[in-house]
Amino acid sequence: MSPDTTAQNKSMTHFDQHQEVWLFGYGSLIFRPDFPFLARRPACITGWARRFWQGSHDHRGTLERPGRVVTLVPQAGTRCLGMAFLVTPEVFAHLDFREKNGYLRFRTPLTFDDGDTCEGLVYIATEDNAAFLGPAPEAAIARHIASAAGPSGPNSEYLLRLAEALRELGAEDEHVFAIEHHLLRASTEDVDGRGKDSVASS
Ligand code: SIN
Repeated sequence: MSPDTTAQNKSMTHFDQHQEVWLFGYGSLIFRPDFPFLARRPACITGWARRFWQGSHDHRGTLERPGRVVTLVPQAGTRCLGMAFLVTPEVFAHLDFREKNGYLRFRTPLTFDDGDTCEGLVYIATEDNAAFLGPAPEAAIARHIASAAGPSGPNSEYLLRLAEALRELGAEDEHVFAIEHHLLRASTEDVDGRGKDSVASS
């Protein structure tokens, strides 16, 4: 089964007549907003946790070697901090294409950093999509990410830029930061290992 969700998203017409819509971004939409937007504000949604459980065949991996990117999974009481972008419905076509590897548009209540609320839109790759990889130990996810790359660049860049953006937002995301820690530690060990080899062989 193909994970391509473009057609399904096209039939989600709820916001089509709206002049403006708040789009909640929690992954690459935060650090790579390649679409026009009218405003952006830190915001959160409740009841969802960010997880590196979605496969990426088109951006940070390939069909043969998918990368790992984030989606949201239901978790009662959890607050997911991200960035909300005010967009016009014309950008949905671009977003649907960008998020086509398993992500569906959902309506969601959003809370902005000043406490204001509204109904917005979020792309979520649910666990029944064909590209869903599911849970794995964080160290294993870090190793997977270290070895993957796709047309949008290395999977590690996605992780590191997301972690940096979350730190700037003041988000506490143990899952993302733990994977970042494993990745950085492994790359330091690699450099140290190579260092020892080159000393030994000189
Ligand atoms: C998002 O950023 O909101 C969706 C997931 C992604 O594109 O990384």
